[in-house]
Amino acid sequence: MNDLIIRAAKGEKVERIPVWLMRQAGRILPQYRKVRNKVKDFKELVKNPELACEVTLQPVNILNVDAAIIFSDILVVPEAMGLPYLMIESKGPYFEKTIKSVKDIKKLNIVSGREDLKYVMDAIKLVKKELNGSIPLIGFAGAPWTIFAYMVEGQGSKTFSKAKKLLYTNPLISHELLTKISKSTSNYLIGQINSGADMVQIFDSWAGILSPEMYAEFSLKYISEICDEVKKNFPSIPITVFAKDAFFALQKLSKLNCNVIGLDWTMDPVESRKIIGPGKTLQGNLDPCVLYSDFSTIKKVSLKMIQNFGKHRYIANLGHGVYPDTKVDNVKCFIDTVKNYN
Ligand code: CP3
Repeated sequence: MNDLIIRAAKGEKVERIPVWLMRQAGRILPQYRKVRNKVKDFKELVKNPELACEVTLQPVNILNVDAAIIFSDILVVPEAMGLPYLMIESKGPYFEKTIKSVKDIKKLNIVSGREDLKYVMDAIKLVKKELNGSIPLIGFAGAPWTIFAYMVEGQGSKTFSKAKKLLYTNPLISHELLTKISKSTSNYLIGQINSGADMVQIFDSWAGILSPEMYAEFSLKYISEICDEVKKNFPSIPITVFAKDAFFALQKLSKLNCNVIGLDWTMDPVESRKIIGPGKTLQGNLDPCVLYSDFSTIKKVSLKMIQNFGKHRYIANLGHGVYPDTKVDNVKCFIDTVKNYN
C-alpha cells in the first residue's frame, strides 16, 4: 500500500513527497465529462454510488496521484439538513429555500452519520473495494462557516454580505445555526470514516472574507469542535483543515487538533512554516494558474515551491481546486515534478 500521504500527515518519514490535487475528480478529465454527460445533472452523479465511484477512480488511474478523494460536494450537508441545492450549469450552486429566521433553523435536521447521506457512504465503500488498499481515500466536508454562508446567501457571492449581515445583526441565532451545522458535520465525517475514509479534509472556502475576530468566533470555534469530536472517535485518522485566504488565522489554525494545514498560494511556505511551527504538516500551495503555462515554467515554479516547503511534513497540492480548463498533460507535469524530486 502507498500510504505516503498518511505518513506525511502524521509527520512520519517519507521516501518522497506525496501529491494530489483538490478537484482532481472533475471537468479537467474528458473521461469525467463523458460520464457527466450521461446523467441529467451534477447531483445525479453525486447521488449514484457506482458513477461517483467511477469518477473518483479516474484521476487515480489517469494522473497517478497518491490519494483519491471521494466524488461529492460540500453542499450535500445542507441538503441533508433540509435545504436542497440545485447545481446550475455554468453558474454554480443555488438554494431555493434559505435561512432567514430562527424558525427556519429550528426546522433543520441534524445529519446522522448512519442513516443520512447513505449515497456518500455507499460510494466510499465501493471506492475502497476498488482501491483495494493501493492508496488512501480522502473524505471531506465544508467548514460550518462556509456551509452557513451558502445556507443564508442561497448562492455563491463575492462578498457573502447577507451571510455576514446575519453574523453582525444576530450573533445568537448565527451560533444556533453554526452549532447545528457543526454537529451534522462531525457526524457526517465520522460516518465517512466508518465507511472507509482514511483521512478527512475540512474546506473553509470562505474563511478569507471574515475579519480575524469574526473568524475566531464564527468559524474556528466550530472547526475546533469538529476536530475534537472526530479525534475523540478516531484518534489516528489524519484531519486536514484548509481555510482559504485565512493567512491572518495561521497561528490559531496551528493550535487545532488536526494534522495538516492547507495553504493557498497567497501564503508564503517559509513564512507559514514559521508561524505554524513544526507540529503540523503543510499542504499546498501552487497557484492553479501556473498550470496554464508551459512545462518548463510548471517545473521551475513547482520545484521552487517544493524546496521552500521541504520534504518533511509536506503534501504537495495546488492552493485551491484545479480549474476546469487546465490541460491534463500540464497537471501530469506538476505531479511528475513532485514525484521525481529528490
Ligand atoms: O476534489 C475533488 O475532486 C472532489 C470533488 C469535489 C467537488 N466539490 C466536486 C464538484 C469537492 C472536494 C468539492 C468541494 C466544494 N464544493 C467546495 C470546497 C472547495 C472549494 O472549491 O473551495 C465548494 C465551495 C463547493 C461548492 C461548489 N460545488 C461550487 C461553488 C460549485 C460550482 C463551481 C464549479 O466549480 O463549477 C460546485 C460544483 C462542483 N463540485 C463541480 C464538481 C466536479 C462542477 C460541476 C459539474 O461537474 O457539473
